[in-house]
Amino acid sequence: MSTTAEIKIDGQTYEFPVITGTEGEKAIDISKLRDLTGHITLDFGYKNTGSTKSAITFLDGEQGVLKYRGYPIEELAEKASFLEVAYLLIYGELPSKETLDKFQKEISMHTLIHEDMKKFFDGYPSKSHPMAQLSSLVCSLSTFYPESLEPNQTEEEKNLTIIKMLAKMTTIVAFIYKKSLGHPLIYPKNKYDYITNYLWMTFGQRTEDFEPNPKVVSAMNKLLILHADHEQNCSTSTVRIVGSSDCNLYASISAGISALWGPLHGGANQAVIEMLEKIKADGGDTDKWIAKAKDKNDPFRMMGFGHRVYKNFDPRAKIIKKACDDILESLGINDPVLEIAKKLEQAALTDQYFIDRKLYPNVDFYSGIIYRALGFPSEMFTVLFALGRLPGWIAQWKEMRTNKEPIGRPRQVYVGDVDKHMK
Ligand code: SDX
Repeated sequence: MSTTAEIKIDGQTYEFPVITGTEGEKAIDISKLRDLTGHITLDFGYKNTGSTKSAITFLDGEQGVLKYRGYPIEELAEKASFLEVAYLLIYGELPSKETLDKFQKEISMHTLIHEDMKKFFDGYPSKSHPMAQLSSLVCSLSTFYPESLEPNQTEEEKNLTIIKMLAKMTTIVAFIYKKSLGHPLIYPKNKYDYITNYLWMTFGQRTEDFEPNPKVVSAMNKLLILHADHEQNCSTSTVRIVGSSDCNLYASISAGISALWGPLHGGANQAVIEMLEKIKADGGDTDKWIAKAKDKNDPFRMMGFGHRVYKNFDPRAKIIKKACDDILESLGINDPVLEIAKKLEQAALTDQYFIDRKLYPNVDFYSGIIYRALGFPSEMFTVLFALGRLPGWIAQWKEMRTNKEPIGRPRQVYVGDVDKHMK
């Protein structure tokens, strides 16, 4: 097994170390490439470029494998709670019952946000997108907790910032939703666990005691677990690069929220439902829309299909599709867009264009149908993606800071004007 790679430039051969990850992935370490050869690499979208070594999440796009800290996603989605998975991602091990209870209790003590944060809502236009609100509200946490700005927080101080981020995210997300409806805000209750507390603040009524539907709690747990981390995707890489400037956790997470918002990334779950609704309104002719997705002159893309890494089924999509069937059946909902989604999926899986490009349904294809069944408007879907992805962002930020990785600063190839002068 070769442990070096050779690059030949102008007749000279240069050797670079080949490193192998614990799951057998191979990388050429080019840290010294520019010093030795005067050359850099060029890789639009970093499709072939590793930015770090990480022990948090492993995925194999060809095999459709996803593991958090070595545990298969299928097992975690079936047997763990979201808070257990959050602890696993951030601290590296599944918590004992005592540790989990302590973690839950610490989070419960920090779910309130400063009353002055409610003033932000008065400034947003009534129909402003929840992702814009979420990004700015999360960043503003750093104004209420200025101690978080210290780059060299002690482990204890850093951990308190992490607890506050996890705890306050549910309240901020619930408040954004309630404000969008013009409903009174519902404050967190310490007696509830993480997911139930979130559902209480979102769907509970002030007057009567809240009885969560166990099927809804289970569906939310599963959905948030499936979204919890996904190695160096667009938004996680954003969190890491912002954090690499010694920027505080809140502002780094806020940057990740903004990156996730894009319809090619986390915004796809909202775009999928809007696409399905459009196809339904257009008479449900899935063949017509598949033809549009294949037409290079048509800007339409099949949202929820394709993935930078998965060139096989996204393992999360399989789990979500089954959860979708289960929750719709248990809630007695017959959603016509689900039938359109299944028709689209079947047609695409047998179409040569999709087969040749290895385009399969991804995590966003079915998640929006579940969120809608749970009563969320489509503008909230990406906010829910962010709620799920939060522990992964935190874990990746913490790993980067613990490993004292250098500030991220890619190079470029300049192709602009040369030798211009003022008259
Ligand atoms: C997420 O990275 C992650 O891990 C992300 C994520 C996570 O958990 O963090 O998994 C979450 O972001 C999932 C992806 C959600 N996005 C969408 O569903 C939007 C629709 N899909 C795409 O736009 C696209 O597939 C991407 C952005 C997801 C991936 O794009 P790539 O890897 O840059 O691939 P590409 O754009 O170069 O496409 C390769 C070919 C092209 O055709 P050719 O030029 O070779 O003829 O496939 C075509 C593309 O036109 N193609 C599609 C398509 N996706 C790719 N054609 C029609 N419909 C699509 N959805």
